[in-house]
Amino acid sequence: MAKPIKKAVFPVGGLGTRFLPATKAMPKEMLPVVDKPLIQYAVEEAQAAGIEEFIFVTGRGKSAIEDHFDHSFELETLLKERGKIDELEAQKAWIPPAGHTAYTRQQEPLGLGHAVWCARHFIEDEPFAVLLADDLVLSDTPCLAQMVEVHQRTKGNVVAVMDVPREHTSRYGVIDPGAVDGDCVEIRGLVEKPAPEEAPSTLSIIGRYILMPEVFEHLSKGERGASNEIQLTDSMAQMIGHQPFHAHRFEGVRFDCGDKIGFLQANIAFALEREELREGVVSFLKALDL
Ligand code: UTP
Repeated sequence: MAKPIKKAVFPVGGLGTRFLPATKAMPKEMLPVVDKPLIQYAVEEAQAAGIEEFIFVTGRGKSAIEDHFDHSFELETLLKERGKIDELEAQKAWIPPAGHTAYTRQQEPLGLGHAVWCARHFIEDEPFAVLLADDLVLSDTPCLAQMVEVHQRTKGNVVAVMDVPREHTSRYGVIDPGAVDGDCVEIRGLVEKPAPEEAPSTLSIIGRYILMPEVFEHLSKGERGASNEIQLTDSMAQMIGHQPFHAHRFEGVRFDCGDKIGFLQANIAFALEREELREGVVSFLKALDL
């Protein structure tokens, strides 16, 4: 039996420059899709996959995230006084219990690998999940739960992948695929942001990972990679051949909400999923008559 995955790391230290001016004074991860911040979608996805400990790697200007996962005494009192008991319960349901969230700061945004490394003291000798909140996945089974199932079978590292147009490979970590077993693809190699002509495939990693703790040994070296950043992909690549490493072609649609068009698409797609909003959105889109 593989060790259960109980901890997830949420790197939220990025500056979100693609989303200025919205992200000047507000964390990118607090941008709402319909009525819920991106980071709450990520935490709920982790909860649905059995995660019990939530570790946020933050940076300056990210305190709204801490407040969001805390009880708001004023709000709860007000809802109680007004008899809005259902709303009160709904507001409390997704907040992790006391002592189950931890926050550490990435003092400089040196890259995703560095952000994950900042969480090393919260992880013991156990596999753990990493979720990037700006990647939002709409699926029947939450993406991380799909990956946990793969991890239980393969007992190693698992990343979520999707095919991207070849001209976009330079935006992603791309896998060199080996044996294929249904939606599960063995990984023979990984390259961060390859030029289209050099990419080993078009299967690209999105912001969902299950990693073995050995990744910290490689991250500790602090080696810089593409864009002069400490890349998570480079440390993951060093584990290939030493322990199982698989890519999971997830079921669902992924939206890159760190990008304006992806964010707008996510809002429409998630609104269409909501019974009380669907009709209004459909009639608005139809009336546009594009
Ligand atoms: P991005 O590449 O989207 O960078 O990071 P960014 O700074 O957030 O946004 P842009 O490109 O300037 O608009 C991918 C993920 O890695 C985290 C980000 O928070 C995001 O979830 N990250 C990135 C860190 O936590 N620290 C870093 O140093 C870099």
